[in-house]
Amino acid sequence: MQTAILYFSATGNTHWVARQLQKQRETAGETVTCIPFEQLAKQPVPPDARLFIGFPVYGFAVPGIFQTRILETIALKGRHVYLFATVGLVPGDALARFADKLRQAGAVVIGGRAVRMPGSDGMGFMKPDSPTLRKMLERDFENLPELEQIQHDLQQPQLPPDRFPKDSPLRISAPKRLLYRLCRPLMARLETFAIHRLHADDTCTRCGLCARICPAGNITVTQQETVFGNRCILCMRCLHHCPAQAIQIASWTRNKYRYPGPGDSPFRPE
Ligand SMILES: Cc1cc2nc3c(=O)[nH]c(=O)nc-3n(C[C@H](O)[C@H](O)[C@H](O)COP(=O)(O)O)c2cc1C
Ligand code: SF4
Ligand code: SF4
Repeated sequence: MQTAILYFSATGNTHWVARQLQKQRETAGETVTCIPFEQLAKQPVPPDARLFIGFPVYGFAVPGIFQTRILETIALKGRHVYLFATVGLVPGDALARFADKLRQAGAVVIGGRAVRMPGSDGMGFMKPDSPTLRKMLERDFENLPELEQIQHDLQQPQLPPDRFPKDSPLRISAPKRLLYRLCRPLMARLETFAIHRLHADDTCTRCGLCARICPAGNITVTQQETVFGNRCILCMRCLHHCPAQAIQIASWTRNKYRYPGPGDSPFRPE
């Protein structure tokens, strides 16, 4: 079977899960192509491949730039799609709403799971010696239980959406959907509040890395200054990856932790 894993990852969690999933599917005898967001416009998706689509949840939602890229550039009609999201805590109805959009585009959504990983939002505000942070990083990344759930889901006969397992993030009750809908504007306001305070402090060396890796093309670095535009999606990639730790949200992230990604070798978004 041909499988393609299409994913967006800002700080490495979703990239890690995509690679674990790739290993799992190859062990199951499938031929797997892994395509990150940055390559989506350039690398062809095998036409008959079953798709796994993965993303980090931001404020109970799919990162807008990724959702748009998938819906506008991938031929979805008749495709079997399995969704996976990485989350710090809870996905809300992010997977369920994305599944609705994929179905509207003609895809057959065969399942979905959320994988718990360190929260890329909270970690940048934590002291490096924080016990909460240590706990977050303690996960056994090589043996994520959610990967077993995915394996199990794929071995089941294909179910209609209303018969997905009760714990499926694709099956959200109407009251919960309403609750998430009410929470989303509040979370979006918090994000905007943080985005307006994102800046490079005076330790910036103008190395240009942040401009090269920003997935939204939101940063311009000149010899004199490092400027943030108005396209930021608050993915936190620049903040966690700046080699000088010069990127801050107000002063709240100064001398706080920077996340290199899960596993032993740091995530390299370039
Ligand atoms: C702006 C922002 C908003 C987030 N919102 C949520 C959320 O609503 N629920 C949640 O569980 N995690 C949330 N997170 C945490 C990320 O979804 C999680 O850490 C994810 O694994 C990051 O994936 P990546 O490393 O592939 O970018 C948020 C992170 C950011 C940066
Ligand atoms: S990555 Fe950091 S040091 Fe390099 S230009 Fe950006 S803010 Fe400055
Ligand atoms: S400027 Fe915004 S979108 Fe770009 S890397 Fe930084 S947080 Fe992400």
